[in-house]
Amino acid sequence: MNPSHFQAVKVSDRVFWVGAIDWNLRDFHGYLTSRGTTYNAYLIVTDKITLVDTVKRPFLDEMLARVRSVVDPSRIDYVVSHHAELDHSGSLPDVLRLVPKAKVITSKAGWTTLGAHFDLEAPVELVGTGSAVDVGGASLTFHETRMIHWPESMFSMLDGDGVLFSQDGFGMHLASHERFNDQLPAELLRYEAAKYFANILMPMSDLLARHLGKARDARIIAPDHGPIWRSGIDGLLTDYETWATRRARRKLVIAYDTMWQSTAAMARAIAEGAADLGVEVVPMRLGTAHRSDVVTELLDAAGLLIGTPNLNGQMYPTVADLLTYLKGLKPRGLVGGAFGSYGWSPAVGPQVVAALQELKVDLVGEPLLTKFVPRNDSLIACRAYGEQVARKILEVVPG
Ligand code: FEO
Repeated sequence: MNPSHFQAVKVSDRVFWVGAIDWNLRDFHGYLTSRGTTYNAYLIVTDKITLVDTVKRPFLDEMLARVRSVVDPSRIDYVVSHHAELDHSGSLPDVLRLVPKAKVITSKAGWTTLGAHFDLEAPVELVGTGSAVDVGGASLTFHETRMIHWPESMFSMLDGDGVLFSQDGFGMHLASHERFNDQLPAELLRYEAAKYFANILMPMSDLLARHLGKARDARIIAPDHGPIWRSGIDGLLTDYETWATRRARRKLVIAYDTMWQSTAAMARAIAEGAADLGVEVVPMRLGTAHRSDVVTELLDAAGLLIGTPNLNGQMYPTVADLLTYLKGLKPRGLVGGAFGSYGWSPAVGPQVVAALQELKVDLVGEPLLTKFVPRNDSLIACRAYGEQVARKILEVVPG
């Protein structure tokens, strides 16, 4: 290795990690990235030099320094672009300015998308599912993974080394000096992988389930975010299959906000009723709990209850925020309902019900609304509603 303040990390015989660590990222298009992230780029070193994906543009110098610790960046022959989102393509124009002779290898849709982002002039080789490209005596075989995470996205396998480059697939937002999964606590990885799946990949669950087979042949999975998987791949794939097929547990998420503690009191009574029937209940007050953490809890939940006060005839802004976010992520197979407190207009009940119907939630009963402050009778009704929702969850999730 050459001296450099940022060093590459060897992944396999012919592959090095040359990515960047973003310790300070806290928002990734609406997703709370509490532990930062990494942008993983890789270098395949054979008779030719291949850069696999790049990094978010502010991290260009870090990536180039890591490349320099292996070879002079001017020696790059190929740049593979698996995914055109800017956290992976942002440095591509700078790399191509540095190495104008380098050929870009991407999908047809990838080249179109890159062209919509940048003015690129470079030789290009377009690939699709089944394309095998010789990169200096090693073969990269491509597999299109449409909508994981964008329409142009692809996986590729480096034959011989058994390294699957999976771009966003199997990734997580986790900044760390450790590069491999077996150097980090398994529970932390499972949580962050689940959070990533819930907030990035959930809308494509059906498609994803179809591509999991491609990963079964891998000895190493090298995603574009987070640690590289060199062990425990079967467990990772089992988790992905569970999440992609929405195998829920007997779990109820109660997401609510409150103005004068009335809706909060209702949430507590509902939670008690559901918990007494043996359902795991996760009450989450919005504004305190981030939307992306609510979605993470929903990943293996069977039920969702939404609680909101009425504010000027509308649901609370934090509740509307969550419902909009959920509409895009399309969690499926939920049972649930609405509850909350109002002063003089119960309009929020139908508003939340309409949003839940868009999410195809199997509604349990009518919205449970209380005028101003819930008294004892109202709280007893809340508890009974919690029991009613729990009975539905016990019915739909086998014990
Ligand atoms: Fe990591 Fe879809 O970008």
